[in-house]
Amino acid sequence: MERIAPLLLPWFEANKRLLPFRQEPSAYHIWVSEIMLQQTRVAAALPYYERFIRELPDAAALAACDADTLHKLWQGLGYYNRVNNMQKAARVVCERYGGELPDDYDALRALPGIGDYTAGAIASIAFGIPAPAVDGNVLRVFARLYNDDADITKPETKRKFTERVLDQMPKTAPGPYNEALMELGALVCVPNAAPQCLACPLAPVCRGFAAGRAEQLPVKPPKKEKERLPVTVALVQSPAGLLLQRRPDKGLLAGLWQPAAFENQAMTREQLTAALAALGVDAALERPLQPARHVFTHKIWQLSGWAGSAPAVPLPEGWVWGRPEDYPLPSAFDGILSQRADEKSL
Ligand code: ADE
Repeated sequence: MERIAPLLLPWFEANKRLLPFRQEPSAYHIWVSEIMLQQTRVAAALPYYERFIRELPDAAALAACDADTLHKLWQGLGYYNRVNNMQKAARVVCERYGGELPDDYDALRALPGIGDYTAGAIASIAFGIPAPAVDGNVLRVFARLYNDDADITKPETKRKFTERVLDQMPKTAPGPYNEALMELGALVCVPNAAPQCLACPLAPVCRGFAAGRAEQLPVKPPKKEKERLPVTVALVQSPAGLLLQRRPDKGLLAGLWQPAAFENQAMTREQLTAALAALGVDAALERPLQPARHVFTHKIWQLSGWAGSAPAVPLPEGWVWGRPEDYPLPSAFDGILSQRADEKSL
């Protein structure tokens, strides 16, 4: 394979998007942006990024942030364990490195929530360390570039492609090189069989393009069916607010808030009324909710339930009457919460 950097780097300079973390590429900025961009497209992530950096401008601020405020800043991005891990890592950074991310690949890789990709991105973009940063974009670009049919979900494929990425890396510009590959994957060598090969700076050397196979690559095995789980929700309104509960500190959506919900159970109205009565809440559940779904990485929630009202009795620990707007509620409940009778008036 010919060298790609002489084609790739000028293209990146001329075509890269002006993004806030590119204007001020501190290690902290790169870290926050890369974690957000693992789950969300650049355009959608930008408002979250700007607000997050404004509220939590450095590792010390992130380390000290209370859980509900942190989750509010992340609300809408999902994958809350990522921000929980970022906070754990920020605490280590404050204790061990004086509040600045270490300029060392292995030290970065050892922090909670920082894997090969994120460590490589921070090390190369913020510190100019020649480490690879191989995400789904880069795997796709390299599968097409080398016309390689290997299954990109396999660890050995990732290892082989990472060697090629490193072999092609100009050691004087590892950050721009890594970012250029990601940018090419995001703007030109796009997924879902629609590569823009005529606009691609690597087309002259791309073996997938030469073979007319770029759209068929990369090869991935068919996705596994996700497990479907019923969740029964009660939207119970009292004069003091909606009935809300805090989720357990461990597991899915740990520590976030939700309307009263019972997982892995498709309950009848009578069963739901009885479950609320066990909390001391005497609810009149008048209205069935439209079923909704939420797709997680490994499972699908099938949400259904009832809406109604109840007197504002005192509640057990971990339960409140409140305004959903005031609590970090995962978007898994959006399809249900939009069915609150008085949603607009509150
Ligand atoms: N996707 C993830 N990180 C990125 C970056 N730094 N630039 C462009 N796209 C990205």
